[in-house]
Amino acid sequence: MNNKTTGRSGFSSSFGVLAATLGSAVGLGNIWKFPSLTGANGGAGFLLVYLLATLAIGLPVMIAEITLGRAAKANPITTLQTLSPRKSLPWWLVGAGGMLAAFLILSFYSEVVAWVFAYVFKAIGGSILSSDRQVTEAAFGALIGDPLQSLLWQWGVLVLIGGILLMGVTKGIEGITKKLMPVLFLLLLLLCAVSLTLPKVAEGIAFLFKPDFSKITAGVILTAMGLAFFKLSLGMGTMMTYGSYFRDDQNIPATTVRVMLADLFVSMLAGIAIFPAVFSFGFAPSAGPSLVFITIPAVFSQIPGGQLLMIAFFALASVAATGAMLSMMEVPVVILHERFGMSRTKATVLTIAVLVVMGSSCALTNNVLADFKLFGMNIFDLFDFASSNVLLPLGGIAVALFVGWVWGRENFQRALSNQGALHNAAVTGVVFFLLRYVSPLLILVVMLKGLGLF
Ligand code: TRP
Repeated sequence: MNNKTTGRSGFSSSFGVLAATLGSAVGLGNIWKFPSLTGANGGAGFLLVYLLATLAIGLPVMIAEITLGRAAKANPITTLQTLSPRKSLPWWLVGAGGMLAAFLILSFYSEVVAWVFAYVFKAIGGSILSSDRQVTEAAFGALIGDPLQSLLWQWGVLVLIGGILLMGVTKGIEGITKKLMPVLFLLLLLLCAVSLTLPKVAEGIAFLFKPDFSKITAGVILTAMGLAFFKLSLGMGTMMTYGSYFRDDQNIPATTVRVMLADLFVSMLAGIAIFPAVFSFGFAPSAGPSLVFITIPAVFSQIPGGQLLMIAFFALASVAATGAMLSMMEVPVVILHERFGMSRTKATVLTIAVLVVMGSSCALTNNVLADFKLFGMNIFDLFDFASSNVLLPLGGIAVALFVGWVWGRENFQRALSNQGALHNAAVTGVVFFLLRYVSPLLILVVMLKGLGLF
Protein backbone atom coordinates (compact mmCIF):
# COMPACT_ATOMS: atom_id res chain seq x y z
CA MET A 1 0.00 0.00 0.00
CA ASN A 2 1.25 3.46 -0.77
CA ASN A 3 0.68 6.05 1.85
CA LYS A 4 -0.90 8.93 -0.03
CA THR A 5 0.35 11.68 2.20
CA THR A 6 4.01 10.67 2.38
CA GLY A 7 4.49 8.63 -0.76
CA ARG A 8 6.27 5.98 1.31
CA SER A 9 5.15 2.42 1.02
CA GLY A 10 3.94 0.63 4.10
CA PHE A 11 2.41 -2.55 5.40
CA SER A 12 -1.00 -3.23 3.94
CA SER A 13 -2.78 -5.23 6.59
CA SER A 14 -2.77 -5.75 10.28
CA PHE A 15 -1.54 -9.30 9.80
CA GLY A 16 1.16 -8.05 7.46
CA VAL A 17 2.43 -5.71 10.17
CA LEU A 18 2.55 -8.49 12.71
CA ALA A 19 4.26 -10.91 10.32
CA ALA A 20 6.89 -8.41 9.18
CA THR A 21 7.72 -7.28 12.70
CA LEU A 22 7.92 -10.88 13.82
CA GLY A 23 10.05 -11.66 10.78
CA SER A 24 12.63 -9.19 12.04
CA ALA A 25 12.44 -10.36 15.65
CA VAL A 26 12.60 -14.10 15.04
CA GLY A 27 15.94 -15.22 13.75
CA LEU A 28 19.17 -16.73 14.96
CA GLY A 29 18.63 -14.79 18.17
CA ASN A 30 15.96 -17.34 19.03
CA ILE A 31 17.39 -20.51 17.58
CA TRP A 32 21.08 -19.95 18.18
CA LYS A 33 21.79 -17.12 20.64
CA PHE A 34 19.07 -17.83 23.17
CA PRO A 35 19.98 -21.50 23.77
CA SER A 36 23.72 -20.90 23.80
CA LEU A 37 23.51 -17.97 26.24
CA THR A 38 21.00 -19.77 28.46
CA GLY A 39 23.34 -22.76 28.52
CA ALA A 40 26.45 -20.74 29.18
CA ASN A 41 24.86 -18.68 31.95
CA GLY A 42 23.38 -21.40 34.10
CA GLY A 43 19.89 -21.98 32.69
CA ALA A 44 16.65 -21.00 34.41
CA GLY A 45 18.04 -18.12 36.49
CA PHE A 46 19.24 -16.47 33.31
CA LEU A 47 15.88 -17.12 31.67
CA LEU A 48 14.11 -15.41 34.55
CA VAL A 49 16.31 -12.30 34.38
CA TYR A 50 15.81 -12.27 30.62
CA LEU A 51 12.03 -12.32 31.12
CA LEU A 52 12.17 -9.44 33.58
CA ALA A 53 14.35 -7.44 31.20
CA THR A 54 11.89 -8.10 28.40
CA LEU A 55 8.95 -6.84 30.46
CA ALA A 56 10.51 -3.83 32.17
CA ILE A 57 12.75 -2.72 29.33
CA GLY A 58 12.10 -4.58 26.07
CA LEU A 59 8.36 -3.99 25.81
CA PRO A 60 8.35 -0.26 26.63
CA VAL A 61 11.35 0.43 24.39
CA MET A 62 9.78 -1.51 21.54
CA ILE A 63 6.53 0.42 21.90
CA ALA A 64 8.53 3.67 21.99
CA GLU A 65 10.53 2.86 18.86
CA ILE A 66 7.51 1.83 16.83
CA THR A 67 5.47 4.82 17.98
CA LEU A 68 8.23 7.28 17.13
CA GLY A 69 8.77 5.72 13.73
CA ARG A 70 5.07 5.81 12.92
CA ALA A 71 4.70 9.39 14.09
CA ALA A 72 7.57 10.66 11.92
CA LYS A 73 7.37 8.17 9.04
CA ALA A 74 11.08 8.48 8.38
CA ASN A 75 14.48 6.84 8.89
CA PRO A 76 15.84 6.77 12.47
CA ILE A 77 18.00 9.88 12.16
CA THR A 78 15.27 12.02 10.59
CA THR A 79 12.65 10.64 12.98
CA LEU A 80 14.35 11.93 16.12
CA GLN A 81 15.29 15.21 14.45
CA THR A 82 11.78 16.00 13.27
CA LEU A 83 10.11 15.03 16.54
CA SER A 84 12.56 16.97 18.68
CA PRO A 85 11.52 20.54 19.42
CA ARG A 86 15.15 21.56 19.93
CA LYS A 87 17.08 20.86 16.77
CA SER A 88 20.43 21.66 18.32
CA LEU A 89 20.65 18.46 20.38
CA PRO A 90 22.58 15.67 18.67
CA TRP A 91 19.78 13.10 18.40
CA TRP A 92 21.30 11.93 15.14
CA LEU A 93 23.80 10.11 17.34
CA VAL A 94 21.12 7.48 17.92
CA GLY A 95 21.04 6.79 14.20
CA ALA A 96 24.83 6.80 13.98
CA GLY A 97 25.11 4.43 16.93
CA GLY A 98 22.50 2.24 15.30
CA MET A 99 24.50 2.11 12.12
CA LEU A 100 27.65 1.09 13.98
CA ALA A 101 25.69 -1.56 15.88
CA ALA A 102 24.28 -2.85 12.61
CA PHE A 103 27.78 -3.32 11.16
CA LEU A 104 29.06 -5.04 14.30
CA ILE A 105 26.07 -7.37 14.56
CA LEU A 106 25.99 -8.19 10.87
CA SER A 107 29.71 -9.04 10.96
CA PHE A 108 29.22 -11.97 13.32
CA TYR A 109 25.59 -12.70 12.42
CA SER A 110 26.58 -13.27 8.79
CA GLU A 111 29.14 -15.81 9.97
CA VAL A 112 26.53 -17.74 11.96
CA VAL A 113 24.21 -17.59 8.94
CA ALA A 114 27.16 -18.97 6.97
CA TRP A 115 27.33 -21.96 9.33
CA VAL A 116 23.59 -22.49 8.93
CA PHE A 117 23.87 -22.43 5.13
CA ALA A 118 26.85 -24.79 5.25
CA TYR A 119 24.82 -27.12 7.48
CA VAL A 120 22.09 -27.39 4.87
CA PHE A 121 24.69 -28.97 2.60
CA LYS A 122 26.29 -31.01 5.33
CA ALA A 123 22.84 -32.33 6.17
CA ILE A 124 22.35 -33.32 2.54
CA GLY A 125 25.69 -35.13 2.66
CA GLY A 126 24.41 -36.90 5.76
CA SER A 127 27.72 -37.03 7.63
CA ILE A 128 26.56 -34.91 10.57
CA LEU A 129 23.48 -36.95 11.40
CA SER A 130 24.62 -38.74 14.52
CA SER A 131 23.91 -39.01 18.22
CA ASP A 132 27.60 -39.56 18.81
CA ARG A 133 28.91 -36.43 20.47
CA GLN A 134 32.33 -36.81 18.94
CA VAL A 135 30.96 -36.95 15.41
CA THR A 136 28.80 -33.83 15.61
CA GLU A 137 31.45 -31.88 17.51
CA ALA A 138 34.14 -32.83 15.02
CA ALA A 139 31.93 -31.83 12.08
CA PHE A 140 31.31 -28.38 13.51
CA GLY A 141 34.94 -27.99 14.52
CA ALA A 142 36.08 -28.86 11.02
CA LEU A 143 33.82 -26.19 9.54
CA ILE A 144 34.73 -23.29 11.79
CA GLY A 145 38.38 -24.34 11.98
CA ASP A 146 38.78 -24.01 8.23
CA PRO A 147 39.48 -20.38 7.30
CA LEU A 148 38.71 -20.83 3.62
CA GLN A 149 35.34 -22.50 4.16
CA SER A 150 34.39 -19.96 6.83
CA LEU A 151 35.27 -17.03 4.60
CA LEU A 152 33.69 -18.36 1.44
CA TRP A 153 30.39 -19.28 3.06
CA GLN A 154 30.22 -15.87 4.71
CA TRP A 155 31.00 -13.98 1.53
CA GLY A 156 28.44 -16.10 -0.24
CA VAL A 157 25.83 -15.11 2.33
CA LEU A 158 26.74 -11.42 2.05
CA VAL A 159 26.62 -11.47 -1.74
CA LEU A 160 23.27 -13.25 -1.63
CA ILE A 161 21.82 -10.67 0.76
CA GLY A 162 23.28 -7.84 -1.31
CA GLY A 163 21.71 -9.38 -4.40
CA ILE A 164 18.31 -9.61 -2.72
CA LEU A 165 18.54 -5.95 -1.72
CA LEU A 166 19.75 -4.82 -5.15
CA MET A 167 17.07 -6.69 -7.01
CA GLY A 168 14.57 -4.97 -4.76
CA VAL A 169 12.92 -8.24 -3.90
CA THR A 170 13.05 -7.66 -0.19
CA LYS A 171 9.28 -7.64 -0.09
CA GLY A 172 9.26 -10.93 -1.94
CA ILE A 173 11.58 -12.43 0.64
CA GLU A 174 9.33 -11.16 3.38
CA GLY A 175 6.44 -12.87 1.64
CA ILE A 176 8.37 -16.12 1.56
CA THR A 177 9.43 -15.77 5.18
CA LYS A 178 5.82 -15.28 6.17
CA LYS A 179 4.78 -18.49 4.45
CA LEU A 180 7.71 -20.60 5.63
CA MET A 181 7.77 -19.47 9.26
CA PRO A 182 4.87 -21.72 10.26
CA VAL A 183 6.78 -24.71 8.85
CA LEU A 184 9.86 -23.86 10.91
CA PHE A 185 7.56 -23.59 13.87
CA LEU A 186 6.13 -27.07 13.22
CA LEU A 187 9.61 -28.54 12.86
CA LEU A 188 10.58 -27.01 16.19
CA LEU A 189 7.48 -28.54 17.75
CA LEU A 190 8.44 -31.92 16.32
CA LEU A 191 11.97 -31.55 17.70
CA CYS A 192 10.50 -30.76 21.11
CA ALA A 193 8.32 -33.84 20.97
CA VAL A 194 11.35 -36.00 20.15
CA SER A 195 13.51 -34.31 22.74
CA LEU A 196 10.89 -34.96 25.43
CA THR A 197 11.26 -38.72 24.87
CA LEU A 198 15.02 -38.71 25.49
CA PRO A 199 16.39 -40.45 28.61
CA LYS A 200 17.55 -37.36 30.51
CA VAL A 201 14.59 -35.15 29.72
CA ALA A 202 14.02 -34.29 33.39
CA GLU A 203 17.52 -32.88 33.73
CA GLY A 204 17.16 -30.78 30.61
CA ILE A 205 13.82 -29.35 31.65
CA ALA A 206 15.02 -28.65 35.18
CA PHE A 207 18.04 -26.82 33.77
CA LEU A 208 15.73 -24.62 31.73
CA PHE A 209 13.03 -23.99 34.33
CA LYS A 210 14.46 -24.44 37.84
CA PRO A 211 16.39 -21.31 38.71
CA ASP A 212 19.69 -21.48 40.51
CA PHE A 213 20.27 -17.94 41.69
CA SER A 214 23.87 -18.54 42.66
CA LYS A 215 24.79 -18.29 38.97
CA ILE A 216 23.43 -14.76 38.59
CA THR A 217 26.10 -12.10 38.54
CA ALA A 218 26.09 -8.51 37.25
CA GLY A 219 27.65 -9.79 34.03
CA VAL A 220 24.90 -12.37 33.61
CA ILE A 221 22.23 -9.72 34.12
CA LEU A 222 23.84 -7.52 31.48
CA THR A 223 23.95 -10.44 29.06
CA ALA A 224 20.28 -11.20 29.68
CA MET A 225 19.33 -7.60 29.03
CA GLY A 226 21.48 -7.52 25.89
CA LEU A 227 19.67 -10.63 24.69
CA ALA A 228 16.31 -8.95 25.25
CA PHE A 229 17.42 -6.06 23.02
CA PHE A 230 18.88 -8.38 20.43
CA LYS A 231 15.94 -10.73 20.16
CA LEU A 232 13.37 -7.98 19.82
CA SER A 233 15.57 -6.07 17.34
CA LEU A 234 15.73 -3.02 19.61
CA GLY A 235 18.09 -0.14 20.23
CA MET A 236 19.33 0.10 16.68
CA GLY A 237 16.56 1.74 14.69
CA THR A 238 15.16 -1.41 13.10
CA MET A 239 11.86 -1.18 14.93
CA MET A 240 11.73 2.56 14.37
CA THR A 241 12.12 1.97 10.65
CA TYR A 242 9.46 -0.74 10.73
CA GLY A 243 7.22 1.54 12.79
CA SER A 244 7.40 4.06 9.98
CA TYR A 245 5.68 1.47 7.76
CA PHE A 246 2.91 0.82 10.32
CA ARG A 247 -0.67 1.74 9.53
CA ASP A 248 -2.17 4.62 11.46
CA ASP A 249 -4.99 2.47 12.81
CA GLN A 250 -2.68 -0.29 14.06
CA ASN A 251 -2.92 -1.00 17.77
CA ILE A 252 0.76 -0.68 18.70
CA PRO A 253 0.75 -2.04 22.28
CA ALA A 254 -1.31 -5.08 21.26
CA THR A 255 0.96 -5.80 18.29
CA THR A 256 4.07 -5.41 20.42
CA VAL A 257 2.83 -7.80 23.09
CA ARG A 258 1.98 -10.39 20.45
CA VAL A 259 5.39 -10.11 18.82
CA MET A 260 7.08 -10.43 22.19
CA LEU A 261 5.03 -13.50 23.15
CA ALA A 262 5.54 -15.21 19.79
CA ASP A 263 9.26 -14.47 19.89
CA LEU A 264 9.47 -15.88 23.39
CA PHE A 265 7.52 -18.96 22.37
CA VAL A 266 9.92 -19.74 19.53
CA SER A 267 12.88 -19.38 21.90
CA MET A 268 11.27 -21.65 24.47
CA LEU A 269 10.67 -24.28 21.81
CA ALA A 270 14.32 -24.09 20.81
CA GLY A 271 15.30 -24.47 24.46
CA ILE A 272 13.03 -27.46 25.00
CA ALA A 273 14.32 -29.06 21.81
CA ILE A 274 17.94 -28.64 22.81
CA PHE A 275 18.48 -29.05 26.56
CA PRO A 276 17.12 -32.58 27.09
CA ALA A 277 19.43 -33.62 24.22
CA VAL A 278 22.35 -31.82 25.80
CA PHE A 279 22.08 -33.95 28.93
CA SER A 280 21.03 -37.17 27.23
CA PHE A 281 23.91 -37.26 24.77
CA GLY A 282 26.51 -35.86 27.13
CA PHE A 283 27.07 -32.43 25.60
CA ALA A 284 28.11 -29.49 27.78
CA PRO A 285 25.30 -26.92 28.19
CA SER A 286 27.97 -24.23 28.21
CA ALA A 287 29.26 -25.15 24.75
CA GLY A 288 28.48 -21.59 23.59
CA PRO A 289 28.03 -20.72 19.92
CA SER A 290 28.48 -24.35 18.84
CA LEU A 291 25.61 -25.64 21.01
CA VAL A 292 22.86 -25.64 18.40
CA PHE A 293 25.08 -27.03 15.67
CA ILE A 294 26.18 -30.02 17.69
CA THR A 295 22.93 -30.92 19.46
CA ILE A 296 20.29 -30.47 16.74
CA PRO A 297 21.79 -33.16 14.47
CA ALA A 298 21.85 -35.51 17.46
CA VAL A 299 18.13 -34.98 18.09
CA PHE A 300 17.29 -35.50 14.41
CA SER A 301 19.30 -38.72 14.39
CA GLN A 302 16.71 -40.17 16.77
CA ILE A 303 13.82 -40.10 14.31
CA PRO A 304 13.01 -41.87 11.06
CA GLY A 305 13.36 -39.47 8.16
CA GLY A 306 15.59 -37.37 10.37
CA GLN A 307 17.94 -36.45 7.57
CA LEU A 308 15.26 -34.89 5.40
CA LEU A 309 13.81 -33.06 8.37
CA MET A 310 17.23 -31.79 9.32
CA ILE A 311 17.81 -30.45 5.82
CA ALA A 312 14.45 -28.71 6.09
CA PHE A 313 15.29 -27.34 9.52
CA PHE A 314 18.56 -25.70 8.48
CA ALA A 315 17.05 -24.47 5.22
CA LEU A 316 14.19 -22.81 7.12
CA ALA A 317 16.58 -21.39 9.70
CA SER A 318 18.51 -19.83 6.78
CA VAL A 319 15.30 -18.22 5.56
CA ALA A 320 14.44 -16.87 9.01
CA ALA A 321 17.99 -15.57 9.45
CA THR A 322 17.93 -13.95 6.02
CA GLY A 323 14.76 -12.07 6.96
CA ALA A 324 16.36 -10.81 10.17
CA MET A 325 19.53 -9.79 8.30
CA LEU A 326 17.54 -7.85 5.75
CA SER A 327 15.83 -5.89 8.51
CA MET A 328 19.20 -5.03 10.05
CA MET A 329 20.76 -4.10 6.73
CA GLU A 330 17.87 -1.74 6.09
CA VAL A 331 19.20 0.65 8.75
CA PRO A 332 22.63 1.52 7.25
CA VAL A 333 21.25 1.36 3.71
CA VAL A 334 18.37 3.74 4.39
CA ILE A 335 20.61 6.14 6.31
CA LEU A 336 23.28 6.21 3.58
CA HIS A 337 20.56 6.64 1.01
CA GLU A 338 18.38 9.28 2.65
CA ARG A 339 20.96 11.18 4.68
CA PHE A 340 24.09 10.91 2.58
CA GLY A 341 22.42 11.22 -0.78
CA MET A 342 23.68 7.91 -2.13
CA SER A 343 21.57 5.92 -4.53
CA ARG A 344 20.13 2.78 -2.96
CA THR A 345 22.38 0.70 -5.17
CA LYS A 346 25.50 2.52 -4.07
CA ALA A 347 24.42 2.40 -0.41
CA THR A 348 23.86 -1.35 -0.65
CA VAL A 349 27.17 -2.07 -2.40
CA LEU A 350 29.05 0.03 0.15
CA THR A 351 27.33 -1.68 3.08
CA ILE A 352 28.15 -5.14 1.70
CA ALA A 353 31.74 -4.14 0.95
CA VAL A 354 32.26 -2.90 4.51
CA LEU A 355 30.74 -6.10 5.83
CA VAL A 356 32.96 -8.34 3.72
CA VAL A 357 35.97 -6.68 5.30
CA MET A 358 34.67 -6.36 8.87
CA GLY A 359 32.91 -9.70 8.81
CA SER A 360 36.02 -11.56 7.68
CA SER A 361 37.54 -10.94 11.08
CA CYS A 362 34.65 -12.93 12.57
CA ALA A 363 35.03 -15.71 10.00
CA LEU A 364 38.68 -15.99 10.96
CA THR A 365 38.07 -15.85 14.70
CA ASN A 366 37.92 -19.62 15.15
CA ASN A 367 40.96 -20.39 13.04
CA VAL A 368 43.66 -17.96 11.92
CA LEU A 369 42.85 -15.33 14.55
CA ALA A 370 42.05 -17.81 17.33
CA ASP A 371 44.67 -16.35 19.64
CA PHE A 372 43.97 -12.72 18.89
CA LYS A 373 42.30 -11.07 21.87
CA LEU A 374 41.12 -7.55 22.61
CA PHE A 375 39.77 -6.72 26.08
CA GLY A 376 40.13 -10.43 26.80
CA MET A 377 37.72 -11.42 24.02
CA ASN A 378 38.15 -12.74 20.52
CA ILE A 379 36.81 -10.53 17.73
CA PHE A 380 33.58 -12.46 17.27
CA ASP A 381 32.73 -12.19 20.98
CA LEU A 382 33.90 -8.59 21.13
CA PHE A 383 31.60 -7.49 18.30
CA ASP A 384 28.74 -9.38 19.94
CA PHE A 385 29.48 -7.89 23.35
CA ALA A 386 29.96 -4.32 22.12
CA SER A 387 26.71 -4.36 20.19
CA SER A 388 24.33 -6.29 22.46
CA ASN A 389 25.72 -5.15 25.79
CA VAL A 390 26.74 -1.59 25.02
CA LEU A 391 25.38 -0.03 21.82
CA LEU A 392 21.86 -1.50 21.84
CA PRO A 393 21.28 -0.61 25.52
CA LEU A 394 22.61 2.90 24.87
CA GLY A 395 20.19 3.20 21.96
CA GLY A 396 17.44 1.99 24.28
CA ILE A 397 18.30 4.61 26.90
CA ALA A 398 18.24 7.33 24.26
CA VAL A 399 14.87 6.26 22.89
CA ALA A 400 13.33 6.00 26.36
CA LEU A 401 14.70 9.38 27.42
CA PHE A 402 13.56 10.95 24.18
CA VAL A 403 9.96 9.82 24.68
CA GLY A 404 9.95 10.41 28.45
CA TRP A 405 11.58 13.82 28.58
CA VAL A 406 11.62 15.36 25.11
CA TRP A 407 8.61 14.23 23.13
CA GLY A 408 6.47 14.14 26.25
CA ARG A 409 3.41 12.48 27.62
CA GLU A 410 0.84 14.25 25.50
CA ASN A 411 2.40 13.46 22.13
CA PHE A 412 3.07 9.90 23.21
CA GLN A 413 -0.46 9.35 24.46
CA ARG A 414 -2.00 10.82 21.35
CA ALA A 415 0.15 8.71 19.05
CA LEU A 416 -0.32 5.51 21.01
CA SER A 417 -4.09 5.88 21.24
CA ASN A 418 -4.27 6.47 17.47
CA GLN A 419 -5.37 10.08 18.05
CA GLY A 420 -7.90 9.03 20.68
CA ALA A 421 -9.49 6.18 18.73
CA LEU A 422 -8.20 3.61 21.23
CA HIS A 423 -9.15 3.94 24.87
CA ASN A 424 -5.88 2.80 26.36
CA ALA A 425 -4.94 5.66 28.66
CA ALA A 426 -4.02 3.29 31.49
CA VAL A 427 -1.65 1.24 29.34
CA THR A 428 -0.15 4.35 27.84
CA GLY A 429 0.32 5.85 31.29
CA VAL A 430 2.18 2.81 32.58
CA VAL A 431 4.39 2.58 29.50
CA PHE A 432 5.16 6.28 29.69
CA PHE A 433 6.07 6.01 33.36
CA LEU A 434 8.40 3.09 32.59
CA LEU A 435 10.03 5.00 29.75
CA ARG A 436 10.46 8.18 31.74
CA TYR A 437 11.76 6.78 34.99
CA VAL A 438 12.29 3.04 35.09
CA SER A 439 13.77 1.72 31.83
CA PRO A 440 16.57 4.27 31.32
CA LEU A 441 17.75 4.05 34.90
CA LEU A 442 17.52 0.28 34.95
CA ILE A 443 19.43 -0.03 31.68
CA LEU A 444 22.10 2.34 32.94
CA VAL A 445 22.56 0.56 36.26
CA VAL A 446 22.67 -2.88 34.64
CA MET A 447 25.17 -1.62 32.07
CA LEU A 448 27.52 0.10 34.49
CA LYS A 449 27.41 -2.81 36.95
CA GLY A 450 27.78 -5.38 34.20
CA LEU A 451 30.73 -3.56 32.70
CA GLY A 452 32.26 -3.31 36.15
CA LEU A 453 32.23 0.48 36.08
CA PHE A 454 30.84 0.90 39.57
N1 TRP B 1 16.12 -10.07 16.30
C1 TRP B 1 16.86 -10.79 15.32
C2 TRP B 1 17.16 -12.19 15.83
O1 TRP B 1 16.72 -12.57 16.86
C3 TRP B 1 18.15 -10.10 14.94
C4 TRP B 1 17.93 -8.67 14.59
C5 TRP B 1 17.25 -8.17 13.52
C6 TRP B 1 18.40 -7.56 15.34
N2 TRP B 1 17.24 -6.81 13.56
C7 TRP B 1 17.94 -6.41 14.67
C8 TRP B 1 19.12 -7.45 16.51
C9 TRP B 1 18.21 -5.14 15.20
C10 TRP B 1 19.40 -6.19 17.01
C11 TRP B 1 18.93 -5.04 16.37
O2 TRP B 1 17.84 -12.94 15.20
